[in-house]
Amino acid sequence: MTPEAQALLTWYDAHRRDLPWRGISDPYRIWVSEIMLQQTRVETVLPYYRRFTDDYPDVAALASAEEGDVLKHWEGLGYYSRARNLLAGARQIAAEHGGAVPSDPAVLRKIKGIGDYTAGAIRSIAFGQKAAAVDGNVIRVITRLKGITENAAVPSVRREIAAQTEALMPDTRPGDFNQALMDLGATVCVPGTPDCGACPLAPFCAGLAEDIAEDLPVLPDKKPPVSEDWDVLLVRCGRRMMIRRRTEALLRGLWIFPMLPGHRRGDALRQAAEDLTGFPLRSLKEVGEARHVFTHRIWQMSVWHAETSGEAQPEGWQWADAEEIRTLPFPTAMKKAREEALRRLTDTAN
Ligand code: ADE
Repeated sequence: MTPEAQALLTWYDAHRRDLPWRGISDPYRIWVSEIMLQQTRVETVLPYYRRFTDDYPDVAALASAEEGDVLKHWEGLGYYSRARNLLAGARQIAAEHGGAVPSDPAVLRKIKGIGDYTAGAIRSIAFGQKAAAVDGNVIRVITRLKGITENAAVPSVRREIAAQTEALMPDTRPGDFNQALMDLGATVCVPGTPDCGACPLAPFCAGLAEDIAEDLPVLPDKKPPVSEDWDVLLVRCGRRMMIRRRTEALLRGLWIFPMLPGHRRGDALRQAAEDLTGFPLRSLKEVGEARHVFTHRIWQMSVWHAETSGEAQPEGWQWADAEEIRTLPFPTAMKKAREEALRRLTDTAN
């Protein structure tokens, strides 16, 4: 075993975070945890992981679930394509592999939603195979440890980072080794100023020796998110509001209220809103504002309320009562609008 691996595993045995997907080898649960942990902090994931694995304890249970229910379990976690792909992957494993998560790397990589990172994590943690699992934390630790100053977003540099990780990896405990790197990246070798005094890899660290650790990894400048203006319409008909299920790539499968791009008011808004919904609207008034930051865009939303009458089914829309609005999966971007909708549907003074 390399001295780096020895030092890291000793540190992990003393400092490992006690997490529900540790101390188990069920590849399904490890898969679920790794998908949830992408782009998402451990503390945020914990309650979602518990609910999800309680309700879908194995591949067969998930494979037979409805997409809407799975999205409901993901509500608020974001990056909903992870949930859709996880469901598609479970259905694939149920259909093609008898419900058993495959351990063969080439087979595993063919499962929907399982990329190099997730395959490496499942292989090492669940099956004890020597495979790297390079996520953002590991990129930070390894670029610092090895003093890699090239752009870490470039595929060849990524491969170099993976190769360096594999070169350090012990024959025993590969899953612990990977999770130790993740924990080290999350708690010690943190972005900005790392806590090198607490680091088991400090004696081996080129970034520390060269005093460049704080500047690593080198990544391309992120483009700032683009700001988009939207008018969100709470169109009420008696005890129900107009909603639709998104088919667009962003937030596909989640439910939203009618939205118009840009900000209008007065007759211009009424006209555009009537064109969008196909219903004559009255008592149009602004009831709030909301803002939601996605990875690449920001929605700046004005929330409006309007009333209409008649029971006609709106083309492309559905009427939903308070109970449906509570239980269908809505994105966090619609949180304020949904709360306002529920207030208006349940407040009898309206
Ligand atoms: N981040 C991604 N995977 C993780 C894991 N298995 N443990 C802790 N943090 C993680």
